[in-house]
Amino acid sequence: MTLNDLFPKTARFGADGLITIAGVDLNLLADTYGTPLYLYDASTINGSYSLLTELLKQNYSGKAQIAYASKAYLSLKFAKKLARTDASIDVVSLSELEIALEAGFPPERIHLHGNNKSREEIHSAIANRIGSIVIDSTDELEFVEAICEGMQVRQKIWLRINPNIAVNTHKAVQTGHGASKFGIEAANGEAEHVIRLALKSESLHLTGIHTHLGSQIFHPAEFGQAVVAMLELGKTAGFHPDVVCPGGGWGVPYTIDDPFIDPNEWIATISKAATDWCRTENCPLPELVIEPGRFMVARSGVALYRVGSTKQSQNGDWIAAVDGGMADNPRVALYGSKYEAMLVGDGSKRPVETMRLVGRFCESGDELIPAITMPRLQRGDLIAIPVSGAYQLSMASNYNLADRPCVLWVENGAVEVLQRREHAARSDWWQGE
Ligand SMILES: Cc1ncc(COP(=O)(O)O)c(C=O)c1O
Repeated sequence: MTLNDLFPKTARFGADGLITIAGVDLNLLADTYGTPLYLYDASTINGSYSLLTELLKQNYSGKAQIAYASKAYLSLKFAKKLARTDASIDVVSLSELEIALEAGFPPERIHLHGNNKSREEIHSAIANRIGSIVIDSTDELEFVEAICEGMQVRQKIWLRINPNIAVNTHKAVQTGHGASKFGIEAANGEAEHVIRLALKSESLHLTGIHTHLGSQIFHPAEFGQAVVAMLELGKTAGFHPDVVCPGGGWGVPYTIDDPFIDPNEWIATISKAATDWCRTENCPLPELVIEPGRFMVARSGVALYRVGSTKQSQNGDWIAAVDGGMADNPRVALYGSKYEAMLVGDGSKRPVETMRLVGRFCESGDELIPAITMPRLQRGDLIAIPVSGAYQLSMASNYNLADRPCVLWVENGAVEVLQRREHAARSDWWQGE
């Protein structure tokens, strides 16, 4: 894997250090729209979606569905583009739900997740007749049931199970192990009990079992175990689900040292696990739903920053500060995530240094890359950080009243603004309106 491979598929690198994505020059974009600037490459996103669709077709003979985990990145214009495909969408808040609906997702292709959904969210999901509400606890089952009774409707639900499967990823994004706050415990019999309760309910229509093991996972075996655990659990409770969903979580490389593991391993493993189990038990194949977030959008996104202040610290490190940082990308501070960066333009005549690429926010943890070797940076340089499409803007903040960046969509030489740069001080929230 080379640094170029981390960029979107349409990226082209000139000998003079110039970079184009989808045929558009990054210098021109930065000059026109300012920095920090994020862009999404249409072709890379479409490619990821088509690849997963194809892999499901090749590996699974039952019905299958791809539900984009919108927490990875969502905006209305982006959602409208996705809604034109046959993708479904996973939402976890009222605003994500409203955007999915406004973007034109057919309600039956929307699934509401979350470990503490509000009455308002549940009410809106039911009123809009969305595909399923994914129940996260026994308490929530009763809460949703009571709301359905009040509204006199029968709502489709899935149950999110905690199968107690630990995966090798950052602690903060492990979600299927015993100590996780997510899902209904399978090991102590609670999940079985909840399945029986749901089956008896007149206002709830239990159709699926769901789990999500975590994020940035590169080992397929645990996904296969999770599928079997869900089907076995159903069998114990006398329920063969119409839908089995082992969530999202397939990992992507962020640096040249990270592995790239073919997503076919993920899809083939879950497909085989469901197929083998159903063949042995002589049961129909359930619909297989996957919920990719990171895999769909991470590589399509690039963050562009301008270098401002540079200095040498007392211990001799070169420090280059860019005009963004933890407010638009909190992943480094949250998870110690690693990135690569590329100077856009020709730095060939400069000394090569190991530098700290830091942000502009008032916290020492505001570093984008703690150590990177590249031509010595100077004020005005443009820096591109690849693999910036997932869990950056969706987790962005207004710390120091930073304006959230402008976001572009680039496709076949054309540029579309997905989100204008925010002006935090003028926004209703900061104005107190
Ligand atoms: C329920 C659920 N499904 C899918 C995902 C997407 O995970 P990833 O972006 O790693 O594919 C998440 C992420 O947190 C999630 O909570």
